[in-house]
Amino acid sequence: MKAFIINKYTKDSLQLADLPAPKVGANEVVVEVHSAGVNLLDSKIKTGEFKLMIPYKFPIILGHDVAGIITEVGKNITRFKIGDEVYSRTPDYHIGTFTEYISINEKYVEFKPKNLSMEEAASMPLVALTAWQALVERANLKKGQKIFIQAGSGGVGTVAIQLAKHLGATVATTASNKSFELLKCLGADVIIDYKTQDFESILKDYDVVLNSQDTKTLEKSLKILKTGGKAISISGPPTPQLANDIGLPWYLKIILTLISFSIKSKAKKNHVDYSFLFMRAEGSQLQEITKLIEANIIKPVIDKVFAFEKTNDALKYVESGRAKGKVVIKIK
Ligand SMILES: NC(=O)c1ccc[n+]([C@@H]2O[C@H](COP(=O)([O-])OP(=O)(O)OC[C@H]3O[C@@H](n4cnc5c(N)ncnc54)[C@H](OP(=O)(O)O)[C@@H]3O)[C@@H](O)[C@H]2O)c1
Repeated sequence: MKAFIINKYTKDSLQLADLPAPKVGANEVVVEVHSAGVNLLDSKIKTGEFKLMIPYKFPIILGHDVAGIITEVGKNITRFKIGDEVYSRTPDYHIGTFTEYISINEKYVEFKPKNLSMEEAASMPLVALTAWQALVERANLKKGQKIFIQAGSGGVGTVAIQLAKHLGATVATTASNKSFELLKCLGADVIIDYKTQDFESILKDYDVVLNSQDTKTLEKSLKILKTGGKAISISGPPTPQLANDIGLPWYLKIILTLISFSIKSKAKKNHVDYSFLFMRAEGSQLQEITKLIEANIIKPVIDKVFAFEKTNDALKYVESGRAKGKVVIKIK
């Protein structure tokens, strides 16, 4: 089968290779990949930014998100059958959706939302799970609370805004003015142009911030929170809790303690909570997200669909940081 791979960490393009098709494990299904969603994480894995946290063996097939059709089921599988349309954020260490077939443990697989195309479904898992884990699990966001979601026009932002509105929160977001119409349609209440306005002089007494930008933006975000508010960052700096969560060795825990010392101290001084979120694959949460998608509460926002042979262009487009919503590769 054809697959886009790397044989070493690199800033160069992915290579197109011919690899054997995957064998199905007892608790796995093999999925014929119809579409693969592209995420910045794919690029960060490619360059080795995550090599200490998630050490992969080469060759690595890149790609975390998939939508497709089941072609084989393992001997313990009862929930799925051949021909089922499914989607998934494949688990760390078993990624590889920029290809034609992938085997996935059934824990991470969910039926594709009936109202979505393959491209739309492939765009959702990683960003929707990130939004869910930040807003529902970590923030416990409630009706009447106020949340600031940075980069509302991005992959995570477009889903997080819709989820926050569904939970009954007031949503402020940042974007450049070319995305304002989109953000109004998604339900954002306060839209701030990050190129011409300072959000820290406009927003105050917020309950939650979802930070996806640099440390400077994160530090300013602490100031718009009310006492006891929560700053949840998905772009760092990671804290030692991550070492516990994903089982990193002691020396990495020390490094993470040092890396996060400054922001944790600043959060303490502002009487707010700082935490880093590293999203995880989770089929049961995808089931909850599927319900919201099928009820038209969360709608995918797709910027561009690339042909399989243009996978490197898709990755470069995501790396540009200019995507409005998601980028998807059409494989079948
Ligand atoms: N920790 C985790 O588990 C996790 C999970 C998912 C994502 N992430 C990380 O979260 C970050 C966001 O991911 P994403 O997929 O949502 O990114 P994305 O889709 O690439 O974001 C692109 C969008 O960000 C907007 N943008 C760029 N700079 C901005 C700024 N300074 N202020 C406000 N908006 C800005 C752009 O708008 P304009 O073009 O108009 O500027 C564009 O629409 C990335 O660093 C990603 O790696 C982490």
